[in-house]
Amino acid sequence: MEHELLKVKNDASSLIIAAEDEKELNEIKLDFLGRNGKLTQLLKRMKDLPEERKPEIGRLANEIISTVEDLLATRGEELRGEKKEKIKRAVEDITIPGVKPSLGHLHPMSQVLFDVIDVFKGLGFQAADGPEIETDRYNFEILNFPKDHPARDTQQTLFLDTRKSKATSGETILRTHTSTMQGRIMEKIKPPFRVIVPGKVFRYEQTDASHGFEFWQFEGYAVDKNITFTNLMGTLDYFVRKFFGEETKIKFTSHNFPFTEPSLEGYVSCVVCKGKGCSFCKQSGWVEVLGGGMIHPNVLRNVGIDPAEWQGFAFGTGLSRLVILKYQMDDLRLLTNPDLRILEQF
Ligand code: DAH
Repeated sequence: MEHELLKVKNDASSLIIAAEDEKELNEIKLDFLGRNGKLTQLLKRMKDLPEERKPEIGRLANEIISTVEDLLATRGEELRGEKKEKIKRAVEDITIPGVKPSLGHLHPMSQVLFDVIDVFKGLGFQAADGPEIETDRYNFEILNFPKDHPARDTQQTLFLDTRKSKATSGETILRTHTSTMQGRIMEKIKPPFRVIVPGKVFRYEQTDASHGFEFWQFEGYAVDKNITFTNLMGTLDYFVRKFFGEETKIKFTSHNFPFTEPSLEGYVSCVVCKGKGCSFCKQSGWVEVLGGGMIHPNVLRNVGIDPAEWQGFAFGTGLSRLVILKYQMDDLRLLTNPDLRILEQF
């Protein structure tokens, strides 16, 4: 027994002295002094000793326990001191490189948004912002979509449930296009002006690779004296060359929108095959990107501008679509995916 006690004492001492940190020290403490620890187990066997040996061995055991406890306490203090010393050294060492916080960057959507604004700023346009929750008046009425007109069906409108508010039922919607900002701005300021309005719009759409219920558009319009259809075509041609690259071509086809007359649709030469024909442009060499036209006299009248004195052009395009085209992405949903493996590629 005596021999075993001394061995345990020696084992414990050498382990304690070699302990590297407080965690290790605690483990050693448990291993020797814990409920199932080596010393505790030995002490349990004291009762089997012959009566006359008990006092002597008891004293030795107590000595050993207090030696081990003292050693544990001293090493503990040392280790805490060493830790402090290490921290102190680290703080004082100004040559240790700092921890660099990782920097974020603009989302591809925002990068494109700022590029677009830059191009139009260069042409004297001002950027404006407006509400996503809209009224029937700005989304439709002012823009020459009379109530019950079939052209409203093209807008796949999401209506807000206004039963618990003062709003008239069916009048409050999520805007379906940024054209709403024609009325909102033209009502307030006097021509001449040139404005672009980027923003989010919403439609009742099934989500897939090329459709979303929420996407970005931007609207542009200019009102002045003697504005013509060719001013519109020239502006759009300038924009696509600046945005997609000088070699990009634009072509126009006639179209119909309630708020422009005459109206056009604009196509750019495919950014993937440069117009030769590929699966991206469905072999046509062209990709549709925008709608536009001369602001309908009814729209100008609706906002108190005399169409005999002032004319204007307007156009609208899907900003999300421009991003997809510019970076040749094959799925619109990638733009709302927060996966950093995607976003870090831009
Ligand atoms: N607001 C139209 C849409 O979302 C796009 C558009 C077409 C805007 C022609 C215009 C325009 O200003 O003149 O479908």
